[in-house]
Amino acid sequence: MARRSLLVGFGGFLPDRVVTNDELAAQLDTSDDWIKTRTGITRRHIAGPNDTATSMGAQAARRALDYAGLTPADIDAVIVGTSTPDQAFPATAVRIQAELGMQQGFGFDLAAACSGFIFALSTADAFIRSGQARNVLVIGSEVYSRIVDWSDRGTCVLFGDGAGAVVLSGTDEPGEAGLLSTHLHSDGTAGDLLYVDGAVGRREMSGHLKMSGRDVFRHAVAKLSSSVDEALKAEGLEYGDVSWLVPHQANIRIIEGVAKKLNLPPERVVITVDRHANTSAASIPLALDEAVRDGRIQKGDLVLMEALGGGLTWGSALARF
Ligand code: UT7
Repeated sequence: MARRSLLVGFGGFLPDRVVTNDELAAQLDTSDDWIKTRTGITRRHIAGPNDTATSMGAQAARRALDYAGLTPADIDAVIVGTSTPDQAFPATAVRIQAELGMQQGFGFDLAAACSGFIFALSTADAFIRSGQARNVLVIGSEVYSRIVDWSDRGTCVLFGDGAGAVVLSGTDEPGEAGLLSTHLHSDGTAGDLLYVDGAVGRREMSGHLKMSGRDVFRHAVAKLSSSVDEALKAEGLEYGDVSWLVPHQANIRIIEGVAKKLNLPPERVVITVDRHANTSAASIPLALDEAVRDGRIQKGDLVLMEALGGGLTWGSALARF
């Protein structure tokens, strides 16, 4: 039996401060009704002065390790999907290693914007399958509140902060459970549809998120639809086999479009966008954490994950729990 990866731990962290649509409407030309109707968002968590991708990622990681019954000493690698690292380097993953007291293994960050968790999951799975790592912490941690332009109502209302983590663990035992496959894509020709206009490698040290919302929306519906088909086809599965859709949480209308295509009723879709807004690479592991801990996702369930983000990057992952 070939080695495969089991999802054995789940954790999340959200900053204390909650900002409602009405609070944003008090400062911007927007309304609770517009935000809710166009996106499904009602509120979001916003980082406090001491919350960073490292601190939030470390908290989520600790909770995922607890769930898995593992300690930092059991971990061989830490992979963090983030577009909002504390520093250009050291990587957030390496800072998290230090926060957890790890002196073994390796860590690195991966930049795939809102698809960061799917890309990190796929990378971790490859390390496990090749025998280079046995237990891997896969983290998405983001503080988009520090890169949105708070005067741009077209983008700032969409995002929130947070972190989510999953522990992947290799097994050689026969069984049905595990990560079945991941499917990654990127297309840099569409890079200017969603980007940050500054970075430490440019003269502009920090930048703001810029998005052509309508174009990204169009790409999201088409590319996520083909991505879920690709994942199911690769495993010889059908729409009816999917127990749960755990999508990237950008916009309820995009999520509902994919669910409709899959013929999945709303109660089979894990939704957090209403309370978290778009937490980029953190959104899928935060949603997984919620649905595993409240008992919605059960052993034996087939879980389909999908995401699209700046790059453009997009992809999907299928897992049997
Ligand atoms: O996670 C990464 C991937 N990102 C996404 O998947 C986001 C994809 N895009 C979207 O979710 C949607 O395109 C948005 C939510 C960003 C925008 O929704 P939309 O239905 O595409 O609206 P729109 O951009 O077409 O704007 C409609 C109107 C415009 O006014 P006019 O030109 O029709 O007069 C906007 O200026 O709504 C206006 N508008 C707002 N009004 C009130 C834009 N933002 C706001 C706002 N409040 N916050």
